[in-house]
Amino acid sequence: WPGAEQWVPEHADHDALSAAVQRCRGCDLYENATQAVMGEGPPDARVMMVGEQPGDQEDQAGQPFVGPAGKLLVRAITEAGLDPTTIYRTNVVKHFRFTMPSGTRRIHKSPAGWQVRACVPWLHAELADVRPSTVVLLGATAAKAVMGTDFSVTERRGELLTWPDRLPLDEPPERLLATVHPSSVLRSNDHDADFAALVDDLRRVAS
Ligand code: URA
Ligand code: SF4
Repeated sequence: WPGAEQWVPEHADHDALSAAVQRCRGCDLYENATQAVMGEGPPDARVMMVGEQPGDQEDQAGQPFVGPAGKLLVRAITEAGLDPTTIYRTNVVKHFRFTMPSGTRRIHKSPAGWQVRACVPWLHAELADVRPSTVVLLGATAAKAVMGTDFSVTERRGELLTWPDRLPLDEPPERLLATVHPSSVLRSNDHDADFAALVDDLRRVAS
């Protein structure tokens, strides 16, 4: 698999990226997904939040963060004092990866490292188009895609990070931080504490 590069139009705006991503054959994930899911939000958003990949509902709707994790994220963003409608939401991987162990329900499966690397040119193009001043990496997949595979969200969540050279941008974000993925809060046995910790990290964006 060649990676997404050859399908990513140069200097493209959001509409052009959304159209082009549907043709991507950069890795095998397009084969079983319903459609690719490009990020969404105001074209001049100052804040971009990056998740892992579309889930079951996102895959069907063609929109990011419309399912349970997305709803929790909106609650956390609001509680942190930010307006969710001003934030651009996207994922590092644009097609839904899943297994069907019982042959009916689609169960989320995290993308492999090579699939993340294959898809990253789309995120890079979104960053170059939106030019956010703040980027929030949600969970290990997004954090490792941007910061490198040695990066640990558990150790460094909420810290202000430096934009890495591996994703060169003319105008890199001034503020970068990583936190947990909202779906980890959904699954948590200590939901209230983990939700509060996510809100705390997101408050760094508001301050
Ligand atoms: N989880 C993600 O990482 N992204 C979505 O769009 C939905 C759930
Ligand atoms: Fe292309 Fe990314 Fe979809 Fe793979 S997951 S086919 S690289 S858009």
